[in-house]
Amino acid sequence: MSAPSENPPANALANFAKAFQQTPLWMATAPGRVNLIGEHIDYNDGFVLPAAINRHFTALASTNGSRKIRIRSQHFAEEAVLCLDTPPKPDQARSLWMRYPLGVLAEFLDRAADVPGLDIWVASTVPLGSGLSSSAAFEIAFASILEHASGLSLSQVEKALLCQRAEHVFAGVPCGIMDQFASIMGQNDHLLLIDCQSQDVTPVPMNDDSVCLVVANTNVHHSLASSEYAKRKADCDEAKSQLGVNSWRDVRKEDLASASALLDGHLLKRARHVVTEIQRTQDAVEAIQDHYWEKLGELMYASHDSLAKDYEVSCPELDTVVAIAQELGVSGGVYGARMTGGGFGGSTISLVKTSQAKPVLACYEEYYQEYTGQRLDAFVTRPAQGAQAFPIASIH
Ligand code: GLA
Repeated sequence: MSAPSENPPANALANFAKAFQQTPLWMATAPGRVNLIGEHIDYNDGFVLPAAINRHFTALASTNGSRKIRIRSQHFAEEAVLCLDTPPKPDQARSLWMRYPLGVLAEFLDRAADVPGLDIWVASTVPLGSGLSSSAAFEIAFASILEHASGLSLSQVEKALLCQRAEHVFAGVPCGIMDQFASIMGQNDHLLLIDCQSQDVTPVPMNDDSVCLVVANTNVHHSLASSEYAKRKADCDEAKSQLGVNSWRDVRKEDLASASALLDGHLLKRARHVVTEIQRTQDAVEAIQDHYWEKLGELMYASHDSLAKDYEVSCPELDTVVAIAQELGVSGGVYGARMTGGGFGGSTISLVKTSQAKPVLACYEEYYQEYTGQRLDAFVTRPAQGAQAFPIASIH
């Protein structure tokens, strides 16, 4: 197995040794993701277009000769202790973050995997709770360690679905497949077009150096586990059943006019977002293939508008970043911007002229501070390689 594209955080080995008085045997890294377009439609049979980013969850691990897995991290005050002899239950988790490894462990134990006692140190360069999928990155880094330690080998799709189930059952979030697929299957300089109905993944080259992706983290923390995400999913399922269709892929934009007679106001809004976002995502792939960046930018703004008004998952801080992007415009270096991820806080993604990236970052941070009195963390990212895991000796 090859070494990761980014070195482990410099102090990770030292932290591991300090925490557990031994040296690690395995290391796993799993990146966060950013979604260019196709939001809230992965659980609606849609298309999504994410990329893994160059920020990772890193896990270092060693066996400890016990029947327990101990997890420590500088990010969490408490140590997690997972017992291997009793089936994990969601309410065992003393903190929300412990639900992710517990859920993944439960899936491994269900498959009768021979998981040994482990000491694990985790560190993240993915900002936590920022809409960049730190939870999926955590699940996948942890699952990769369990694969190595137990000898249970999973295909990429099996591993992604296992982690998605862990999130459903243990974190209570009925998420789609986008985050786990992107973190595992990410490719350098490629977006991933994921058909969430067939689960086919098609890499889409994004290698024109004249444009770059800018992520802006509002530092407003969302709680996807809060009822809103589940409510949106329930709305969409209800709208689908009132329309009498099996899949959103069977509904066209033209059908929405007649749908207005069948659906309540808010269900019609949800339906309109899903159907138009599926179309926008397919149009975005064409725009990328044609390097037609103005068009892609328009689709991103339209996506944001639909998420804010019809799907109602944006918030004033995300809208402010998008308004700043529009203020700067193409002449100021920004083709388009939108919220990315689950919403209710978190981050935006912008398509920016590389030659103007520096001033755009500076304007974003300065104007945002001026308008909201809060700090914005903006950075340039490139589509990056997906998760990797290997015995620790191989990095020397
Ligand atoms: C979260 C979920 C994903 C997806 C996005 C919204 O990140 O985990 O499955 O639904 O929200 O597109």
